[in-house]
Amino acid sequence: MALKRRLEGVVPPGLVEKVPSSFEIMGSRAGAVAIVEIPAELEPYKHEIARAIAAMNKHVKAVLRRLGARSGDYRLYNFEVLIEGPTEVLHKEHGYLIKVDPTKVYFSSRDQTDRLDVASRLGEGERVLYLFAGVAPYAVAMAKLARPRIIVAVELNPWGFKYMVENFKLNKIRNAVAVHGDVAAVAPLLRKKFDRVLMTLPLGAYRYLPLAFDCLEGGGVVHFYHLGREEDPFRDAEEVAKKLCPDCQIVDRRVVRDYAPGVYKVRLDIYKPH
Ligand SMILES: C[S@@+](CC[C@H](N)C(=O)[O-])C[C@H]1O[C@@H](n2cnc3c(N)ncnc32)[C@H](O)[C@@H]1O
Repeated sequence: MALKRRLEGVVPPGLVEKVPSSFEIMGSRAGAVAIVEIPAELEPYKHEIARAIAAMNKHVKAVLRRLGARSGDYRLYNFEVLIEGPTEVLHKEHGYLIKVDPTKVYFSSRDQTDRLDVASRLGEGERVLYLFAGVAPYAVAMAKLARPRIIVAVELNPWGFKYMVENFKLNKIRNAVAVHGDVAAVAPLLRKKFDRVLMTLPLGAYRYLPLAFDCLEGGGVVHFYHLGREEDPFRDAEEVAKKLCPDCQIVDRRVVRDYAPGVYKVRLDIYKPH
């Protein structure tokens, strides 16, 4: 039964429409955390909403309310705890596991289709540089679903680095290297070493695009994430890419998902020739 239906008779009829129609679940049978956005009008009913969510999924041990937008270098939400419980979970995706605590490091289960798509682009034996890696879910997807030679993953948040190392062990990945550091300092040490670079930081990756191009050896692809307005989601990203690399070709473009009202997270696949 949908959340709205469950709250009929609890929330006044005029407010039922405001009850969120969806929420995010991270985890597995071993335990899950639910993350929900509750509008201010429903403040008096937030605990009933949390209990209804927990009743809908018996694996949910903690319910968190998202407050505001992601912020800071680590791209984290502020959360209000509505049902207290463990927030470190083992999230199961396409045959692999991701250990993560969403209160400490970025993770979104809504990016999983994009992970599959990126993994499907890899050729055998590719060398991949994964910038802004968080707990490294794209690296795990690529290592489990494709056949890269090596993946180097770089993350600033110490919690991201810790979980990244654990995720490589958990999934028995031996051809991935975890690096704890700032992309601005690490990428210049990795010039001309890769066939493919992923830049999963939609709010700001453009500042590092020249560094990413420098990390390619010969011809190669950069997966560049950016934000775009609904009317023309790829315009800004394409303008940036063309300005920074006039010789490059945009070989694919995808709307990854909605990001905020009227704003999409987009991905451009940019081929830089030799
Ligand atoms: C949008 S998240 C993506 C994380 C991961 N790729 C994923 O999809 O779950 C961006 C990540 O970049 C990290 N980050 C931000 N600035 C950074 C920098 N200058 N160097 C390295 N990592 C950075 C943040 O801590 C955050 O974990």
